[in-house]
Amino acid sequence: MTPIIEMHGVQKTYLEAGMELPVLRGIDLSVQRGEIVALLGPSGCGKSTLLNLLGCLDRPTRGNYELGGRDVSALSREEQAWVRLHYIGFVFQSFHLIGHATALENVALPLYYAGVDRKTREARATALLERVGLGDRIHHRPNQLSGGQRQRVAIARACVTQPRLMLADEPTGALDSKSGQEVLALLMSLREETALTVVLVTHDAHVASCADRRFVMSDGLIVDIEQREAATHADA
Ligand SMILES: Nc1ncnc2c1ncn2[C@@H]1O[C@H](COP(=O)(O)OP(=O)(O)OP(=O)(O)O)[C@@H](O)[C@H]1O
Ligand SMILES: [Mg+2]
Repeated sequence: MTPIIEMHGVQKTYLEAGMELPVLRGIDLSVQRGEIVALLGPSGCGKSTLLNLLGCLDRPTRGNYELGGRDVSALSREEQAWVRLHYIGFVFQSFHLIGHATALENVALPLYYAGVDRKTREARATALLERVGLGDRIHHRPNQLSGGQRQRVAIARACVTQPRLMLADEPTGALDSKSGQEVLALLMSLREETALTVVLVTHDAHVASCADRRFVMSDGLIVDIEQREAATHADA
């Protein structure tokens, strides 16, 4: 089967005060549909930079990136936006919800950009909020929700366009361990239901241990790939 993500020799170099700052130095990465993979590594090693490239928020300086069999290494900004809208959902550590909008409005917003009519937007957003266990909170604004609930709204929003790829930058980083567990369990069950592929950045060893594979980064390179241990891992 064609991998959903295929990167070869991807480099990202920033220019700072006229000096080249190499941040990604040659990434080879292949991810199958339906996999959950974790990116690990010390602060500054390039995890978020790689996630931004995977999400077509930025373009590699060199190298090749195929998403769903299509070369997306050199798309225009408009083409990148189209790919993001139709293919990718994003979840961030700090949720990035619109503060004055309700949960329902936040989740429905990407459908507005996709040109979906209001009735369908509200029906789909409501169904997803119910799916993530927030059916009784759809008219609450973010400041009326707990951290774990906000992150579930953010996940519902990321899913509302039915993306194939979910990219999450420390999705449990701002949560206590119980809320973090719930968010992780939600991602895993969405994967079971929809064959969603998930790439997440995490510093949390438990979150990482739930991924199918772990890519360990150091100084702009993937230096190790670890498979998940046996199917039933004991939670001591
Ligand atoms: N737009 C930019 N311009 C210049 N340098 C950048 C830019 N974005 C990131 N960097 C640099 O690239 C390096 C990698 O940053 P990145 O955000 O990818 O790290 P990270 O692994 O996600 O770290 P953390 O765990 O702290 O989030 C850092 O040294 C950072 O300063
Ligand atoms: Mg980061």
